[in-house]
Amino acid sequence: MNDSTIFGFLSGKGGVGKSFIASNLATEITKKGYKVAVIDCDLGFSNISTFLNRKVNFTVIDWIKQRASLNDIIDITPQCSLITVSNNFDHNSVNNETLLNALDQLLNHLKLNYDFILIDSPAGTPPIAFWILDVSNFSNLVLIDEPTSISDVYRLCKYVFNVKSDYRFNAIINQTKNETDGLNTYDKFKKLVEKFLKKEILYLGQVYQKEIIADYLKINQCLQIIEDDKEIKNQFHILSKNIIELTQNSITNVIG
Ligand SMILES: Nc1ncnc2c1ncn2[C@@H]1O[C@H](COP(=O)(O)OP(=O)(O)O)[C@@H](O)[C@H]1O
Ligand SMILES: [Mg+2]
Repeated sequence: MNDSTIFGFLSGKGGVGKSFIASNLATEITKKGYKVAVIDCDLGFSNISTFLNRKVNFTVIDWIKQRASLNDIIDITPQCSLITVSNNFDHNSVNNETLLNALDQLLNHLKLNYDFILIDSPAGTPPIAFWILDVSNFSNLVLIDEPTSISDVYRLCKYVFNVKSDYRFNAIINQTKNETDGLNTYDKFKKLVEKFLKKEILYLGQVYQKEIIADYLKINQCLQIIEDDKEIKNQFHILSKNIIELTQNSITNVIG
């Protein structure tokens, strides 16, 4: 690959699985032979490190405050490189412009070294969510089958399409009961966007709702799920394959 490709993970609503999906996707894409970095932008509530079972030593805020170097804040894990922006409330003492400038510099550095950069967003639309939308080549919307989840992503799309009419969004449906259930949720969202916004949103894939995920999380073995559960393993294989293909061709119809 010549250039790195940047994927944002957004949802509006919290707790839908953005961080879980970004962590496992990073792992899967790495397994397919690519260099992957993840930036955890959930200010104050970062938890990619929990999913990857890592301790955060330094954050982007430490770098801004000159308590750490750029290399110090890049945690090279077996799954991917992880950069945490803020894991406490330190970011409140840094103004937004300084933070976003630092993130731009970080991104320029990562672009030289990684094939894929995945950026996990906080819930809602704080300024950092707009930075993610702005720098991403593609934004992955993580959706669940709940009216509030669908209406949040719909409003996000509406806002972004007003600013940039050819913006590229993909949909990942999480916590589905079965394949048909996931496709139905996508269909509901797709029809809404087609009818009122006259836009297409690509379907990247889905992840089943599994009780076992919570059990694995409790014992700090979140990533083991994609080794032990054949269905989840296959779903992350499809998601990662579709993401890689998106960057290789200008594919317009990716069907899992
Ligand atoms: N497909 C799933 N099945 C079961 N639990 C899930 C699934 N996806 C996410 N979870 C759990 O839901 C919780 C919220 O997920 P998280 O990724 O932190 O959401 P977000 O980043 O969107 O706020 C986590 O405890 C996570 O393990
Ligand atoms: Mg999260």
